[in-house]
Amino acid sequence: MAPSNQNTPIILVLIGPPGSGKGTQAERLSRSLAIPAISTGAMLRAEMAANTELGKMAAAISFMGGLVGDDIVNQMIASRIARPDCAPGFMLDGYPRTVAQAQYLDDMLKARDLPQPLVMHIDVPDDSVLERICLRRQCPSCGHIYNLKFQAPANDGLCDADDCKLVTRPDDCEETVRERLKAYNKLTAPLLDYYAGERYSRVDGTLPPAQIEAELLTILEPRLVRAEAT
Ligand code: AP5
Repeated sequence: MAPSNQNTPIILVLIGPPGSGKGTQAERLSRSLAIPAISTGAMLRAEMAANTELGKMAAAISFMGGLVGDDIVNQMIASRIARPDCAPGFMLDGYPRTVAQAQYLDDMLKARDLPQPLVMHIDVPDDSVLERICLRRQCPSCGHIYNLKFQAPANDGLCDADDCKLVTRPDDCEETVRERLKAYNKLTAPLLDYYAGERYSRVDGTLPPAQIEAELLTILEPRLVRAEAT
């Protein structure tokens, strides 16, 4: 399924707790829909890898399981979605994460004459995310996400795509994950009410990744067709 129409960009927001599979689905849907997947977490990790002042601050906050300030991530998204690759649409993974960020996004889209986002909630109970995250490994080069139990690489510790040595994120330790979950339940879960209504859909995030992707595409298809007709 490709973007329906150059004049009606598809704007998707993926919401879910840490480890719910947002990054996994973003990678899949980005391929299926041919739109870029934008992860504020990945953008902040790139700043950390470059050892910038923002990266140092983000590292300290994310290691404690907290959230970086709204103004900072809002500005990051505002400049990222202005880039030409976002013209056919884009998908946001991990943004917005507070009601203030969601309001900023709505205002910004309106000001740029863009449609309001379709919101896909990947619902996973708290007790399954811990195991998922503690067993997550990621390719530092292509970003592909693995899981030692659920999506293991073909060769131990190496990326299937480019043979790079897989790494563990520094914020993937048990103590930090518990704090990230608290932050999600307190600051991000209220977004489910904020987005309640026609633009909101929920999928069962405990299904296998391919099945979740198929459900997301089934939900999206009629909406994309409707967007094409307008
Ligand atoms: P971010 O990188 O966004 O982390 P997160 O939201 O905690 O989500 P994760 O990346 O941990 O999980 P995911 O849902 O993408 O799951 P994944 O697909 O990897 O943010 C990191 C930090 O940056 C934040 O804590 C905060 O400090 C800061 N930050 C970022 N955005 C911000 C914002 N907007 N405002 C303020 N601060 C911000 O999957 C997890 C594991 O499960 C993998 O091993 C995967 O293989 C496996 N898996 C995936 N799907 C399935 C499945 N269906 N079944 C079984 N296993 C599965």
